[in-house]
Amino acid sequence: MTNKISGGDYQPCAKMREYEIKIRERLTEKRYEHVCAVRHCAAELAKIHGLDRENAELAGLLHDYARDMDPEQLLAIGRSRNLITCKVEEQFPILLHGPVGAALVEEELGVAEVQVLEAVALHTVAGPAIGRLAQMIYIADLIAAGRDFPGVDYLRSLAVTNLRQALPACIASSIRCCLERGRLIHPQTIEAWNYYSIERKE
Ligand SMILES: [Fe+2]
Ligand SMILES: [Fe+2]
Repeated sequence: MTNKISGGDYQPCAKMREYEIKIRERLTEKRYEHVCAVRHCAAELAKIHGLDRENAELAGLLHDYARDMDPEQLLAIGRSRNLITCKVEEQFPILLHGPVGAALVEEELGVAEVQVLEAVALHTVAGPAIGRLAQMIYIADLIAAGRDFPGVDYLRSLAVTNLRQALPACIASSIRCCLERGRLIHPQTIEAWNYYSIERKE
């Protein structure tokens, strides 16, 4: 997948420009490059698969809003807003940057689109029966320009040709990566794998 958005008549709205500035202030330069890559990838996938492009760009731009926060901060916000769902998150608070980011973009930026908030919240761990935008952002986060791991090109081609198959393939890749590194696996990711791998076979 290229890092270009084709169909050049699209102009980001003023709100999006305001978000770009806010995101840039919160993230390291490298992380900002990553969110831009995810935004471009999401826009391209939205065009191919008929999803709303503005929401795709918005979710791509905002998905790592809380990614550069300290683990202690993530835990404190997660606890204060009842966002913690399991012990894995207590042990690896970085997993909370999705749900915490969704809470913060709603509160601090006034983002109200439910699909966008879901996509931000679930982009790291996924989950069963998630919306199409959330599926696409989960995939885009994994395959956007700058990602480099064995099998990423296969996932990129699958995302273009068959989003439904790309999701369980991306979930499997994430789980494999956790296993190889001896990391815990979030229960929602396992649920997502069971849900989407069964759906794929039906
Ligand atoms: Fe993230
Ligand atoms: Fe990301």
